[in-house]
Amino acid sequence: MMDLDDLACISQVDRSDMKVLLRGFPRQCSQAWELFVDVPSFEQIAVCGMGGSAIGGDYLKIYLAQKGFPKPVFVIRGYELPPFVGDKTLVFAVSYSGNTEETLSCFEQALRRGSFLVALTSGGRLAQRAHEKGVPLISIPQGLPPRTALGYLFFPLLKSLGKLLNEEALEGEFQEALETLKGLAPLYAEAPEAENPAKQLARAWYGRIPVIYGGEGRTDAVARRWKTQINENAKSPAHWDVLPELHHNEIMGWERPELREHFAYTLLRDRDDPPKLRRRFDLSREILKERGGLVWEAQGTGEKTLARLLSLSYLGDWSSFYLAMLYEVDPTPVPLIEELKRRLKGS
Ligand code: F6R
Repeated sequence: MMDLDDLACISQVDRSDMKVLLRGFPRQCSQAWELFVDVPSFEQIAVCGMGGSAIGGDYLKIYLAQKGFPKPVFVIRGYELPPFVGDKTLVFAVSYSGNTEETLSCFEQALRRGSFLVALTSGGRLAQRAHEKGVPLISIPQGLPPRTALGYLFFPLLKSLGKLLNEEALEGEFQEALETLKGLAPLYAEAPEAENPAKQLARAWYGRIPVIYGGEGRTDAVARRWKTQINENAKSPAHWDVLPELHHNEIMGWERPELREHFAYTLLRDRDDPPKLRRRFDLSREILKERGGLVWEAQGTGEKTLARLLSLSYLGDWSSFYLAMLYEVDPTPVPLIEELKRRLKGS
């Protein structure tokens, strides 16, 4: 199995240089923090996007909820806007490439319904339609795999809402998050496996199906992000679920001894998890271990919500990268996603 401390082996497998993009994530965040539009008053927010372009909407949703923001945020992953989206809805149409058909479909519907629309993209048809229709456009740099552009796909959403939040507090949170990420980048990129939690997690997952559990409204979006990063970077199946819901169904699957050794469980916790959620995480770990399950835990670092959210997310990016290294697969290309998009166009 690959030695994760052998830089020559890593660069041989990471042919498209995802490591450079991961290492540069803090810089991306500070550039993305400069991008925003002014938004009018609204009753709810809908973020429309798919895959790497949708997750920024999930992060926005949990961040705003944790800050007590009183308006709902909906993340729409599909072709159809829900019926409640209308002229009092702020709609962000987010597509890194600008060519994702589900997002383009929502964009056109939101136009027809008179929603306040904002397009967030690096180009493609979405940028073209925004120009044609005079829709405010946040342009982000081209040439990145969407999932490595999380800074560009999340911060402009949050910054555009900055005036409705406590701007000074938000700025402080951003600076703390940035410093936290800057501190973690050399650790995850350069520290040897014995001191590197990202490499250790990858090692634990190797040969098994990673199962990632988050807490409702707290780390659930990060659990989803970890799962999708494992899928796309390591080309591996993965699964995610959320507490407390999983205590009402998923846990029955822990009873299947024949399958036990095929899974590696990772619990995503947060320092400020409410006591009931903390108790459920503790019990999950206990019950899984009693049944011989392999369990790891991870937690974000930092004082404030934003730092903890992004640092936990960043750990998943790096762990999935190292899992790709262990499987000796270039993390960047996603040929099956591209083939599927091609076949859809042809049909
Ligand atoms: C690829 C990736 C995908 C895309 C998704 C939507 O790195 O993360 O999940 O994000 O296929 O495409 P875009 O982001 O171009 O709208």
